Amino acid sequence: MDTATQKQATKGNKRPNDQSTSTNEKKKQKNEPKQTAPTTQQKSTSASAPAKSAAAKIADDKKAKLLQALSRSKHISESSSKPVSKPVAQPASSSVVKKPHQLSKPTPKPPQSVKPISTTPQNAKLTDLQAKMKKTLSGGRFRMINEQLYTTTSDIAVELFKEAPETFDIYHEGFRAQVELWPSNPVDHFIQTLSAAKIPKTKPLVIADMGCGEAALARSLLSQNTHEKQKFTVHSFDLASPNEFVVACDIRSVPLEDGVCDVVVFSLSLMGTNFIEFLEEAWRILRDGGQLRIAEVVSRFPDIDKFVEALTAIGFKLTKKDASNKMFILFDFLKKGKKAVEGDDESQPLLTPCLYRKR
Ligand SMILES: C[S@@+](CC[C@H](N)C(=O)[O-])C[C@H]1O[C@@H](n2cnc3c(N)ncnc32)[C@H](O)[C@@H]1O
Repeated sequence: MDTATQKQATKGNKRPNDQSTSTNEKKKQKNEPKQTAPTTQQKSTSASAPAKSAAAKIADDKKAKLLQALSRSKHISESSSKPVSKPVAQPASSSVVKKPHQLSKPTPKPPQSVKPISTTPQNAKLTDLQAKMKKTLSGGRFRMINEQLYTTTSDIAVELFKEAPETFDIYHEGFRAQVELWPSNPVDHFIQTLSAAKIPKTKPLVIADMGCGEAALARSLLSQNTHEKQKFTVHSFDLASPNEFVVACDIRSVPLEDGVCDVVVFSLSLMGTNFIEFLEEAWRILRDGGQLRIAEVVSRFPDIDKFVEALTAIGFKLTKKDASNKMFILFDFLKKGKKAVEGDDESQPLLTPCLYRKR
C-alpha cells in the first residue's frame, strides 16, 4: 500500500450548499431491526444552533441518562465481562491515526500471606446464568446506544463517545450479535462489488467509508493491494477509532479535501438526525461523476421517493436502486452538479430510527 496515498489531506471549505419461511428464517425475520415511531428529524442542513434550544437540552438530558446507565451497568458487569474489542491485524501502510499509548498503572500485589479475594477472572468460564445475565446487560446497553445514535444529532454522539469511550465497543458487540442473525450483511455487498470494480491502471480507486464501524471494508479491500498494483485507497471514518484503519471524526465533516474520492460508502451509517449533512459532506469529498453508495434498513423509509428527491437536491443523480432484499435497500448515486432544489417539507421525516427489539 502506498503510504502517501493513504495520508489524510487537510479538509477544504467548500460545501455543496454554497451552491423463505423455514424456522431459521422466521427467527431471522423476528430479529430484523424494527422501525418504531418516527422522531423529529431535520431535513434542514444548518449545523449551527445559536443558544441551546429546548431540543438540544432534551438531547443533553438523554445523553446524560445514557452515560449514567452505562456507568451503572459497567460496574455490574465488570467482574464477569471479557474485553470486547479484539486487536485486528493491520497492514503496514493503512491510513492511520494512532491512539495515544495508554500506560496502565501497576496493580499493587497483596501481601503473600493474604489470599486474594476470589473474583471472576476475565477469561474464566461463566456459569450459564452469568452468561445469560451478561448477554442481557450488553443487549440492553447496545439498544440504548443505538437509540441515542438514531435520535440525536451527531454532535451529541461525538460527545457521548468522548465522555464514555467504551461506547464504541459496547455498541459493536451488540451490532455483531445482530449481524449474525441477518441473512446477509450489506458491507459484504460493498466488498464484493468494489472488489469487482474496474480500476484504472494508473491510480487506485479512492474510497471513503463513512461510519465504517470496525473497518471491515478497508481490511478486505486493502488486503487486495499488492506491491505491483495498488488497487484501493480506503479512508475509514467513525466516531471512535478501534484500530488503525479508522480515523475518529464526525462524518458530517471529515478530514479530506474537496473532490478527492471516487466512491463514498454509507453502510447502515445514516444514523444521526442530521444525516443530510453527512450526505452533503459526501458530495463535497466526491469528484464530479464519483459514486455515492448507500445501504439502509428498508423499514427506516417512510417514503423512498422523498429520500431520493432530497439527494437529488444535494446534487446527486440516482443510477440504481435495489430493493430485492427484504431487509436492506441499496442505492447508487452519481455526483452531478450543484444543489438543485431546496428541501421544503419539514414535517415528514426522510428516515426513521432503526431500533432493535429486546430478544
Ligand atoms: C450500524 S453501524 C455500521 C458499521 C459498518 N458501516 C457496517 O456496515 O458494518 C453504524 C456506524 O456508524 C457510525 N456512526 C454513526 N454516526 C456517526 C457519525 N456522526 N460520525 C461517524 N460515525 C458515525 C457508528 O459509530 C457505527 O459504527
